[in-house]
Parts: sequence; structure tokens; C-alpha cells
Amino acid sequence: ETLQADGLYLLPGAIDSHVHFRDPGYPNKETWKSGSAAAACGGVTTVFEMPNTNPATGTVEALRIKQKAAESSYVDYGIHGLLGDDTIDRLEELLDAGVTSFKAFVGNTFGNLPAPTDGALLEGFEKLAPLGIRTVVHAENSSIMARRQQRMEEAGRIDAMAHLASRPAVCEIEAIGRVLTLAEWTGARVHIAHHSSRDSLFLLRDAKRRGVDVTVETCPQYLLLNVGDMTRLGGILRLNPPIREPHHNQPLWDALMEGVIDMIATDHAPHTPEEKSRPNIWQCDCGFPGVETQMPLMLTEISRGRASLMDYVRWSSVNPAKAWGLYGTKGVIAAGAHADIAVVDLEREGVLSEGKLHSISKISPWNGRAVKGYPLHTLVRGRFVMRDGRLVEEAAGWGRSIKDVQRMPAAKPRNVETYTSNILDKPAGGGPVA
Ligand code: NCD
Ligand code: ZN
Ligand code: ZN
Repeated sequence: ETLQADGLYLLPGAIDSHVHFRDPGYPNKETWKSGSAAAACGGVTTVFEMPNTNPATGTVEALRIKQKAAESSYVDYGIHGLLGDDTIDRLEELLDAGVTSFKAFVGNTFGNLPAPTDGALLEGFEKLAPLGIRTVVHAENSSIMARRQQRMEEAGRIDAMAHLASRPAVCEIEAIGRVLTLAEWTGARVHIAHHSSRDSLFLLRDAKRRGVDVTVETCPQYLLLNVGDMTRLGGILRLNPPIREPHHNQPLWDALMEGVIDMIATDHAPHTPEEKSRPNIWQCDCGFPGVETQMPLMLTEISRGRASLMDYVRWSSVNPAKAWGLYGTKGVIAAGAHADIAVVDLEREGVLSEGKLHSISKISPWNGRAVKGYPLHTLVRGRFVMRDGRLVEEAAGWGRSIKDVQRMPAAKPRNVETYTSNILDKPAGGGPVA
């Protein structure tokens, strides 16, 4: 079977480190099947799915339910387990049962999972550093935002801008600083989710220079949208962390170019149109779908000369493959049974439309946006999951967990070993003082 590909480009399939497929728990928003169909139609061949489902992915029992749901997946997948105070004693168990990585909800968000205490976060990092496992962090300060939101509500503010005002960039700066401190101390690998502001880039740049193993993602919405779009879109744009002022857009592009931000993820966070359009902003669920629109949006910017196609491949595929221990198996152009490929037409123009999305949640801030550059065919391990722009429905269930091919060598623990063993092994010199 040959494929007519004149004038088209073969890219390694995109690897999206951050999707919410809502399964189990919220089938009105998304299921594993609908979410992974959206991925397939977006040129995405591997996704990492988040633990804020119901039940949350913090027990082996809950993981088993999710793994069952994932059997319908069109694309390959990793599963982020939950790192919280009450899961610390189960991390090894969860890893043995198949999670590829962990997620810590340091900032409050959809699902209302309690933020881990700093003590639990430190302990989790101490346990995971020698295992090499990377932890995704939603890095926002919950206490600042809770108090700000309370103030806004007291003042009767129910408009979309009040949400932005309740989560100032200092929430992100403070939490990133804290997480980097704990990661550096323990040697743990961390991954900053949905990085949104220019103001915390200096912390990430410095930490990387010092050798902290931190990877960072941003999303198309932080690169391309800002508060100027808020008046038009209102609650649809309610998102954690919030879309910020226009002066944040370009520095995030610059940080991608510099390598301070490593990759593009989507934070695909579907909710129903009803849940996104309530008149009171505090009652609108946060987030929106994105896994299917990332590639056309980013290719459009490539067409405009904002970055090169190779830059895009690095951000969408190579760097995520490296971060999650998949590089070589994924993140490369391979043939035959290893081919995870998006065949793209850089010249094809169109308009993004909610009605065409495969996500159950038919609502998107990108509705009506003109784009140039589309994935036409998507192959996962050599099999078409999208062909000629159409989902290959028989490929449901073709997706596999990447756990078996993931290689995360141990990170070098830093301060913990010597510090702990000093106390535990050596009695204080001279013995007790009378
Ligand atoms: C996400 C969701 O809906 O699960 N929402 C969001 O606003 N980003 C949760 C999250 O990633 O914080
Ligand atoms: Zn988050
Ligand atoms: Zn998310």
C-alpha cells in the first residue's frame, strides 16, 4: 500500500505530555475513545493523561479502571499517577502497576484535589529521584489564589477578568521557586505544566544552568491568546493558569527558542458548552480542548516564519520523547512497525471549527480561526489512525501503554543521601553532653 505524499512532510508524531481524557468520571466531557480520536486527528501519536479523573489515579484500583478505559485508545499513552499526601506510600505500587510518571496539583484546579503539603512533596521527590521518575507539577500557589478569589467574590465580581485577577503571575513564580528548590535538593526530575508567564522564566533558566533536571511545557493558548481575547470569549477562556496580558506572549516564544521552555503540550481540558458558558465566571469549569488543534495552530505560525519546522519538531516530539524516556522509540522518523508519523500539508488552508472536533466537548476558543498547515495522515506504530483527514474508526484500541518502552535511568540523588546518612549512621561526635 503506497501513500501519495508529494509536497507533504513527514514529521515524527506529536507527543502531548498533558491531556485530560476524563475517563473514568466525566463521560459528558470526554472519554478515552473520543479524546484519543481527537489526538489521532491532530497528528498526535502519544499522549500522557492526567490523574484528576473520578476516581483520581492515586490507587492501584483506580489505575486499573483507567487502564481498562484506555483499551479503546487510538494512540499510545502514558498515565500520570497522583502525587499527594495520601499517595506517598503507594508510589512504588503505582509504578509497578503501570503509571509512567506522577502529577502533583500544587495549585488548586478542576477536580479539587488537595495540594500536597511541602513535606509530602519533599518526601515524594526523595523517593522518586533514585527511580529516575519525573513528576509533573501544576505550579501555582493555592493560598494566594483562594484569598484573592474570596476578595473578588466579596466585591461581587463574577466577570471573566476576575478569574485572571485571582491568579496573578506571582502564584506561578512562588510555586515554581518552591518546587525547583525541592527538586534541586533531592535531585528529582520535575516537569512544569502549562507554563504561562514571562515572570518566572528567570527561575527556570537559572535552575537549568545549575543542572536541575527540570523540563517545561507551554501551550498554544499562552503563546497565541491574551486578555484581549477575553472580552470576546469570556468563560470559554477561563483556564488555570489564566491567559495573561499580551506582553507575556513573545517572551514565551523566545523561551522556546532559547530552550528554557522545552516543549508544546496542550492541556486538553474538555468541558461541555453548558459548563463553559455560565454567566458567573466562578461557575464556569476551567480549561478547553486542544489536542486536535495544536498542530494546525503551530504549523500556521511556522508558515508565518515565527520558527522553523525543525524547531516545531523539537518542541512537539523530540523533547517530550527525551523528557519521558522514549527518545529513539518515539520522537524519531521510523519505518514499519515503529512508525509514529504525522504526514502534514504545510500549504493547506482552512478554518478551525468546533463542529469538526472529535472531542465530546464541542467548544473551543479557536473556533473560526484561519490556519495554514494540517496533518493529513497519522500513523501509530505503522498503522493509520487518521487517513486523508479522516479518523480510521477500526483503529480504536490500537493504542498501547508506553510503559514497556520507557527508559528512565536513575537520577543522581543530591543532598538527601549524605544528609540523611550523616544523621542516621554517625552518632554526634563526643556523645551526649552532661
Ligand atoms: C484542567 C482540567 O480541566 O482538568 N483545567 C485547566 O484549567 N487547565 C486542570 C489543570 O490542568 O489545571
Ligand atoms: Zn494544571
Ligand atoms: Zn491540565
